[in-house]
Amino acid sequence: MDKFIIRGGIPLQGTVRISGAKNSALPCMAAAILTEEEVILENVPDVRDIETERKLLSSMGAEVELGYGRAHHRTRIRCALLSDPVAKYEIVKTMRASSLVLGPLIARTGMARVAMPGGCAIGGRPIDLHIKGLQAMGAEILQEHGYLEARAKRLRGAHIVFDKITVTGTEDLLMAAVLAEGETLMENCAREPEVTDLASLLTAMGARIEGAGTPTIRVQGVERLHGARHRINPDRIEAGTFLVAGAITGGDITLAGCNPKHLSAVVHKLRECGVQCDLTDDTVRVTSQGAVRGADISTEEYPGFPTDMQAQFMAFATQAEGTSLVTENIFENRFMHVQELVRMGANIRVDGRTATVRGKTSLSSAAVMASDLRASASLVLAALVAEGETIIDRVYHIDRGYERIEEKLRGVGAKIRRIGNVFRENEASAAQVTA
Ligand code: EPZ
Repeated sequence: MDKFIIRGGIPLQGTVRISGAKNSALPCMAAAILTEEEVILENVPDVRDIETERKLLSSMGAEVELGYGRAHHRTRIRCALLSDPVAKYEIVKTMRASSLVLGPLIARTGMARVAMPGGCAIGGRPIDLHIKGLQAMGAEILQEHGYLEARAKRLRGAHIVFDKITVTGTEDLLMAAVLAEGETLMENCAREPEVTDLASLLTAMGARIEGAGTPTIRVQGVERLHGARHRINPDRIEAGTFLVAGAITGGDITLAGCNPKHLSAVVHKLRECGVQCDLTDDTVRVTSQGAVRGADISTEEYPGFPTDMQAQFMAFATQAEGTSLVTENIFENRFMHVQELVRMGANIRVDGRTATVRGKTSLSSAAVMASDLRASASLVLAALVAEGETIIDRVYHIDRGYERIEEKLRGVGAKIRRIGNVFRENEASAAQVTA
């Protein structure tokens, strides 16, 4: 099981290129199910979840090539024959977002057998709203032996109002609606840029969609969709994570190839803390020399402060003067990073959905353990300022959603190494980290 060794105390300087968004690429890959023609996606990130999605689609009979045509971030998908429209538990249990194939499979083949994803570290993660919407569109869905069995001769357009705002629920039903008979009106939709990115791919494939990115989306179903080429949005959460890396280390980092318009809530909050952020159309430069002050955050659906940046901001708040209240409104268990940060010296108390962070506290290195994707990022950020060498275990969590993070961090001066076995490696090349 891979670990990171990070020596803290170095202000990060330089430029980081932001990769494509995992949470855009996953629904866009699933959208290829909707046509028998070829779909080419550019700027797909090289992360573990994308490999999992490749396995999932291939297991159904799709042709999937990552790094197509020797272009590292280009993916080619062709679902000419979906011989086995089943999302098996062995794959789904490693990635909940597998439920994104449910809507497109029913829309394309009239049937789907998808393992129930089950919960994860951050919460129960139900998909009841996906199921409710598909049933409103005429799908018959049974749940047995841990699987959803869905059937529909042809989905028909419906009026759907989401009880809660759900990102993949909006995406799943959008993909179901584009081939349904008649009009589908969806209200209380998620407005995340990943929804808009998916809608632009579907439109390029011939779908008729209005209102993506707003709470109300209207879809006129069509008989069939054709292939398309599409470039995935830059990853706003990877970008936010590196903004915090520049701020927490008192450095000067420029993010290249990002979309600052998708980062407003994070940039606004860092500026409130005294961090300088300078924006162009596709870059953000973060500099932070002086003392930074704490601020309160409350996670909300887009365009509010993203839950996927909550753990990273909390690491930053430990280095800010004063008290920061961090309130997590989206998931019921997204404070797994708190205890690990406390073990490094942070002063954090959790009371229900709110964590009170008192800064500035000096952090010291420790052996810590990653628990989920964004909690892992939070520990990396803390290790970048902790005195000494921090060892972070179970970094496979971070590999799910960050492309080559240790290389990108080394590129701006961080002392970070990935090792497979602490004992063997530590003796032989500890000097490498301290060099
Ligand atoms: C997406 O998850 C993202 N994943 C998550 O990113 C992100 O944290 C989340 O949206 C919120 O922004 C992908 O896009 C692959 P939700 P999703 O459905 O769609 C409840 C990361 O770190 N809910 O918007 O699964 C749910 O329990 C990951 O990259 C229902 O009750 O999240 C939660 O409380 C983590 N019933 C709330 O809605 C449902 O049917 C929002 O969840 C669906 C959701």
